[in-house]
Amino acid sequence: MAMGSLKHVAFILFFWFPSLRAEETASSQRCDFPAIFNFGDSNSDTGCMAAAFYPEVLPYGETFFHEPVGRASDGRLMIDFIANHLGFPFLSAYINSIGTSYRHGANFAAGSSTIRRQNRTVFEGGTPFTFEIQTQQFNQFKQRTEKFFNQGRRNSFERHFPRPEEFAKAIYTFDIGQNDIAAAINNVGKEDSNKVISDIVDYFANQVRNLLGLGAKTFWIHNTGPIGCLPVSMPIHNAKSNVTPVEGYTDQNGCINYQNDMAREFNKKLKNIVVKLRAEFPHASLIYVDMFSAKYDLISNANKEGFVDPSEICCGYHEDGYHLYCRNKAIIKGKEIFAGSCDDPSKYISWDGVHYTEAANRWIANKILNGSFSDPPLPIAHSCHAQ
Ligand SMILES: *[C@@H]1O[C@H](CO)[C@@H](O)[C@H](O)[C@H]1NC(C)=O
Ligand SMILES: *[C@@H]1O[C@H](CO)[C@@H](O)[C@H](O)[C@H]1NC(C)=O
Repeated sequence: MAMGSLKHVAFILFFWFPSLRAEETASSQRCDFPAIFNFGDSNSDTGCMAAAFYPEVLPYGETFFHEPVGRASDGRLMIDFIANHLGFPFLSAYINSIGTSYRHGANFAAGSSTIRRQNRTVFEGGTPFTFEIQTQQFNQFKQRTEKFFNQGRRNSFERHFPRPEEFAKAIYTFDIGQNDIAAAINNVGKEDSNKVISDIVDYFANQVRNLLGLGAKTFWIHNTGPIGCLPVSMPIHNAKSNVTPVEGYTDQNGCINYQNDMAREFNKKLKNIVVKLRAEFPHASLIYVDMFSAKYDLISNANKEGFVDPSEICCGYHEDGYHLYCRNKAIIKGKEIFAGSCDDPSKYISWDGVHYTEAANRWIANKILNGSFSDPPLPIAHSCHAQ
């Protein structure tokens, strides 16, 4: 006891003067994450929707994988750069039962997913794998993994699943909300947007509470991006809009202001709820990542950063008022047109009008991984230290 308290005193004395250094030492220690568990929408789906429903086709995947791999991009997504940065292989989609390993985590993200429940079937562009279902799937993944290990089936399980004790040490990453905001944008004027956004954020917080209750400790939470900057919403690509935009409708980048404002409102409320969750769970480490600003920086500096105009789309057809989504075919002026991809996707920010190219994802990942867009400002490799 005496020895212990003496050591304690010595510790305090030793580190008292350079107290800043002591603090830095604690938080500059790399976290020993054994696994990643990711939740989200198409921004981080690494094969869920493709495995569950219809596989993707080229040119999706053409740049990096040279084949379609269930990602809504020409190559790697932000979650791929995150996984590699932390020393992990690419994350397998939980729903993908063929040739996959979950040794270092699983990806529950699904294209079209929302935080709230949704009414659309997959045939109408929806998904059954909403955020609530994703956390439920994680719960099942964890319980069944633990059960098999406890039944002494270690040997056959060890190669492809995390150890039961690794769930609490893992990093939990999130990128979801964009499709909820898209739905809210469609309903502008029909519902109270402010109330809807509060509702979305409350749903999010409740699922995070569920994960905290299951023992998750480190959370890396992306806010939602500038949805009004997606080329499909911009007036020049929006086949439906014959309106001449009024003054202030778009910003200097051609992004739609009121849509970005809704994303900003969501982000403000999301940040507030993260602060609240920190107070509720003081031993957890919750990092809020300002993805909006990272993406907006790229969009605002596109040319300076070596990209074409941010309204340009690599895969798709956009001419003479005709707009075809990537990979679609149509007869235009008597000619069959196929909406294929551009010659050099690395020059584009937008892959298909909705999703980012690998080049943009890499640029954004480089910006966010070192903590310059995080609150508190911790790099992802140190993100377990935000208590
Ligand atoms: C789904 O439909 C129900 C019943 O029509 C409605 O109350 C609810 O708001 C809808 N949900 C969404 C997310 O649109
Ligand atoms: C993080 O990396 C970006 C891009 O390389 C750089 O601009 C920024 O200054 C870095 N920030 C920190 C805190 O190291």
